[in-house]
Formats: sequence, structure tokens, C-alpha cells
Amino acid sequence: MCGIVGYIGYREAFPIVIKGLQRLEYRGYDSAGIALFDGNQINLAKTKGKVEDLKNKAKEISQKGTIGIGHTRWATHGVPNDVNSHPHYSNSGELVIIHNGIIENYEAIKQELTKRGYTFQSDTDTEVLINLIEEVQKTENVKLGKAVQIALNQVVGAYAIAVFDKKKPDEIVVAKLGSPLAIGIGEGEFFIASDASPFIEFTNNAVYLEDEEMAIIRLGKEIKLRKIKDDSVAYPRILELQMNLEEIEKGGYDHFMLKEIYEQPRAIKDTYRGRLLANQGIIRMAGIDLNMEKFLNANRIIIVACGTSWHAGLVAEYIFEDLARIPVEVEYASEFRYRNPVITDKDVLIAISQSGETADTLAAIKLAKEKGAFVFGVCNVVGSSIARETDAGAYTHAGPEIGVASTKAFTTQITVLTLMALKLAKAKGVFSESRYHEYLTELETIPSKVEKALESNTLIEIIADVYKDSTNCLYLGRGYNFPVALEGALKLKEISYIHAEGYPAAEMKHGPIALIDEHMPVFVIATKKGHYEKVVSNIQEIKSRKGKIIAIVTEGDEQVRDLADHVIEVPETLESLTPLLTTIPLQLLSYHIAVMRNCNVDQPRNLAKSVTVE
Ligand code: G6P
Repeated sequence: MCGIVGYIGYREAFPIVIKGLQRLEYRGYDSAGIALFDGNQINLAKTKGKVEDLKNKAKEISQKGTIGIGHTRWATHGVPNDVNSHPHYSNSGELVIIHNGIIENYEAIKQELTKRGYTFQSDTDTEVLINLIEEVQKTENVKLGKAVQIALNQVVGAYAIAVFDKKKPDEIVVAKLGSPLAIGIGEGEFFIASDASPFIEFTNNAVYLEDEEMAIIRLGKEIKLRKIKDDSVAYPRILELQMNLEEIEKGGYDHFMLKEIYEQPRAIKDTYRGRLLANQGIIRMAGIDLNMEKFLNANRIIIVACGTSWHAGLVAEYIFEDLARIPVEVEYASEFRYRNPVITDKDVLIAISQSGETADTLAAIKLAKEKGAFVFGVCNVVGSSIARETDAGAYTHAGPEIGVASTKAFTTQITVLTLMALKLAKAKGVFSESRYHEYLTELETIPSKVEKALESNTLIEIIADVYKDSTNCLYLGRGYNFPVALEGALKLKEISYIHAEGYPAAEMKHGPIALIDEHMPVFVIATKKGHYEKVVSNIQEIKSRKGKIIAIVTEGDEQVRDLADHVIEVPETLESLTPLLTTIPLQLLSYHIAVMRNCNVDQPRNLAKSVTVE
């Protein structure tokens, strides 16, 4: 939610900030703004709309200056319009701020500041914060850094902020609590951003602020880190980034989503590379090895996640229970944290998150830790808040996922969780040697089978054309493929705005069957392994009510082909690995339907990739 970018150095800041904002647009794209300091004055442009609109708007101001901050917004307080867009000035016009997060007690502070004569242009919490900083500066007679530190001790909420003061034109002050903030360190220049993508072509060295840390970034000086609570010194940990520019560009594809769908064979391989040594019968995962006893002695595993990651968690429930015989509960992080759950030190909590920044998942982790549970993270973004907050973890290594609709994150999460379950099954002794080997060898074939599944793209495009004008769709699956049905429906609704529901196939007769008529497309996952005959019966029930059937089947299937209006084949695999294949055609289908409906595939309306507010 919201992306922030800043630059202070010797280059022109405008192109760096604009390009950085474009790379962070996945975080929110309601409105965008930029403030530049030309050595004399602050020039500010902001507008409702995307960074492309901001580029136009910024033609009205001087684009000169080697200091700049910019913002791309996902609205929380105040509708997305020009005035509510960031950056925000303080009343004197000397301070300017960008903010990702929420100040929860802003109303009370606003009232207090209003009494003291402050006025507000926008409805935002951020404008309140910058005026609070200004008020502290005045009343306490302190410099910017100290004023930010004092002010932040008065606010409740979450933030990643960057503040510039015209009176101190060689520095930018940044601070973090709850929302991410990275500082890129170049030669005589610094970059500020919500993630490293805006500065990856300039430097590989970055400092990620921890929660409750702030930094004074001053030209020609080392960055100074301080603890917000007591102003004590903190020490920066400089990381060397692995990301490269190619990974965050579209590489010839029309959309990031399509690129990321096609990256899955490679991404899955990267996920198990160095971990899965099938011919030696070994799965190496340090996070599990070092904590094996915790997993083996656990009463149960609780999985928390949101969105697509929650669907991966549902698949994992089947995998862990089926293979490792460990009881699993899967929870929406947002529900878990607010329902006084019973958690003990005998529980293991697995948090799944692509971004590693989802606020509800982070809060669920903190709650579980307080209650003594061992917390394991499955994240994609290296160094993210969740990766740091958990006791141990395993990265998915999918590479940056930029399309808002998650694709390769889902399949790589399932890959990691499968590796974990297999490792635990082996350690528990619930798997025979031969079954274990069968799984390991089969897992190695998955990337080439995903390649094969991707070959149906042309057929899927034809099917997409038939159903692109539907207003409702149903997705059905059983067992391991029930969560895939949920994920298929989510993909369609989030990027094409067609109402879609995922259901366990057998539950259809308890309600959704009433919706079926000749206008209702029903996507059914009917692979050979896994309740095949039962799903075939469900297909017959749909057919007798004239529903349109689009079935995902195992290669060579004839029975369903006779019943369905369309079939899409995927290669055969072990039942628990089928989600890695059946998901592929559903991703492509949503993609093509969204393109045909002229929807913005990579930036669907109202959504954001990284949800850092609850
Ligand atoms: C947002 C994204 C989804 C994602 C969910 C959870 O809603 O649009 O694609 O699945 O957040 O995000 P996480 O980063 O925790 O996996």
C-alpha cells in the first residue's frame, strides 16, 4: 500500500524518482506526487491517477534539483484526489513529507493542532503528521531529525516516511514502523524506497530499516540510524542485494502477469535448487533441520496468510496432513489476530507471504510469538519484515513478482511447503523409502510439466474469447484441487472484474447449483488422481442443468472430454502435486479474459500488491 521513493545526491532527481515510482506502482496507483528541491525552493506536483499522469502534471513545475521525494498512493484516509495525494507540505511550506502507512490517532492530533492555529488542505493523516513535526520543531526549538523523533513518539499507527526541510537542504530524514523502507547507498548519493527496485541499477548496497528506527541521510556523511523510542544510536546493517534489473522489467511480455506465469518452470526450479537432491534422497532446508524437534513435537501447525498465500496455505493443509500426518489449521491472518485464538508453545505457526509485508500476517506472527509458539516464515521477498520477524523460515526464491495478481508466488509457495512436508514425513517415519523417493523424483519433473501445461495457451485464448462476456463463473475442485478452484476464482475476479466463486465440487448441490443455467460457465478441475469419479458425477449434474463445462483434465482423458464443452489438459502427476499444474490454465484464462475486456491486468482497480494496512 503506497510506494515511496527519494533521492539525494548529484544527479537530477526527477527521472530517478519517476522511474522509481513506476517500479513501485504495484503498491498502489490511486494517485501520485513528487517534490523536488532546486537549491532555492521546493517544487511540488501531484495528481489523482497513475505515475504517467504525474509525468504530465509535472510539466507545470521546474523539474530541476538533485533532491526529490515521490509517492504513489493506495488511499486509506481521504478519497484519491489531487489534494489528498502526497507529498504534503507543512503549514509554513518549509517541510514536505511522503508517507506509507496509517496514523491512527490523527484525529486527536489534528484537533490539537487546529486549536494552535494550524489549517489543513487535505483529509489525510499524513498532513497532520507533517504539521505535528513542524509544531515540535517550533515549540522545542530542535532540528528536523529530533523533531521527527519526538513527533513519532506521539503517534499511533504504521509508517514509512521521508521528510525534507528546506532549511536543511542537504538531508532527508526517514523513519519506519510497520511499513518497509530501504536506503540504497551509492557513491556520494542515497536512494530511499519501499523496496530496492527503484535503485537497483545504481547500487547493490542497501540498508533496510528495522521497525522503530529512523535515519538521517545527509550528503557527504555516513547515514546515522537512531531508535525512535529513546533516540539512542542504532547501527546500520548493509546488505548486498541479489536482485538484477532484468528481473524487474517485462522482458518482451505485454504484462508482468504473463511474464510471471511463464517464469513458473524456472521459479519452481529455483525454489528447490540446492534443497532437493532427489538422487541422494535428501531435502536440505536449514530452517527445518535446525528446528526439527519443534516440528516433530508440535501439537499442530497453524498456517496464517492472506489472499493467494492463504490459498497456498489451504493446499499445504492437505499436504501436511496427508504426507506428514501433522494436524493443520489454516486461518486468515486478519481473523486469527482478532479472535483470541488458543495458542501454546506446542504450536508451530507458519506464516506465508509473498511480500513479507502484509500487515495482518505480521500482526498474527507477533501474537503467536507472544503466546510462545514457534513461528516459521515462507516469504518471497528477502529481508522483508515477515522474514525478519519469524524464528526461522524458507524463502521461495521466485524472484520479484510485480503483477498485482499473484501467480509464481503461489506455485513456489506450494513447492516450499511440499518440500517441508516431505522432509517432516521422512523424519517422522510415516513415509516408506520408496514413496519418499517417488515424491522426490516426481517433484523434479514438475518444471517440465508446467512447461507442457503452458503449451495450452492458444487453446486457452480461444476459450477465453467464448467466456469473456460472462457475468458470473463457478470454479469447482475437490481435495487438493479445492483450493485451486478458490484461487482460479480469485484470479478471475481480481483482474477481469467478473464475479466468480470457488467451491468444493460436492458442496455445489448445497447452494450454487441453483445458479446453473445455460449462461453459467463452470470451470471444473477433474484430474485423474483425486476423487475423479466423484468429480465426473458433479460434471454430469452441471450438464443436466445446461451449465457450460470447461474442464481441466489429465492428458489423454476421454471420459470428461465427452461431457465437457471444453477440456484443457495438464500432464499426469502425483495427486498432491496436481495444484502446481492445474493452476496454470486457470491463471492463463484469467489473464486472457482480462486482456480481452481491456482491463489493466497488472494494476487492477482498488487493489495493491503489498497490503501494509490492516
Ligand atoms: C494482496 C495481493 C494478493 C496477495 C495478498 C497477500 O491482496 O493483491 O496478490 O495474495 O495481498 O499478500 P502476501 O504478500 O502476504 O502474500
